Amino acid sequence: MHIHPSILSADFVNLESELQTISSADAVHVDVMDNHFVPNLTFGTQMVKRLQEVSPIPLDVHLMISNVDDFGPEYAKLGIASTTFHIEASKDPKSLIKAIRKAGSKVAVAIKPGTELSQVENLFTEIDMLLIMTVEPGFGGQPLIEATLEKVANAKASFKARNLEISIQVDGGVTTENISQLSLLGADTFVAGSSVFMSSDRAGNIARLRDLARL
Ligand code: DX5
Ligand code: ZN
Repeated sequence: MHIHPSILSADFVNLESELQTISSADAVHVDVMDNHFVPNLTFGTQMVKRLQEVSPIPLDVHLMISNVDDFGPEYAKLGIASTTFHIEASKDPKSLIKAIRKAGSKVAVAIKPGTELSQVENLFTEIDMLLIMTVEPGFGGQPLIEATLEKVANAKASFKARNLEISIQVDGGVTTENISQLSLLGADTFVAGSSVFMSSDRAGNIARLRDLARL
């Protein structure tokens, strides 16, 4: 079970010290938004490069950008552990996966709540992780969309049937209330923004989420 706090909910002016407060997590989730693929704007390559240099834990970069076929590999080249792109934003996902892997990063593909699992099925043998968005991408602090849960169970069943070792990440509205259920359904990697950063005891929040995910 992997807990990935999302720094979208952190204090952007003090990111280096914010990263220290989540050093007990498995990786830090970095939401890259371009104000085009989603109606919000966060970081570019320069910022991700610095985060990579100062972070005590690996970076899990979630690209919510258009034109990801061109720009995605630029992020992967920064030495980050894992690069996630949205299927809705890529015209040539197979080439993009190859380019990200060539840059030395693990690869994940993400699907929005309205995108069916069948749209990424042909990529299952090529990815390390599938990100099932449990909210509409763009903002932290939204409630989880219950209708997305079925996709988690279906993805798990599909990977099992094909004997594939692919991680299932869920992102959006993950809390102490629902993380056990998400884990039972088959998720193993949990992004948590507000539920980690909402109080000053980040290590405690991470530990609670991890314990509940293991139940
Ligand atoms: C939303 C982002 C999430 C966000 C999650 O588009 O992809 O990573 O930070 O925030 P919470 O956990 O608050 O829903
Ligand atoms: Zn995210």
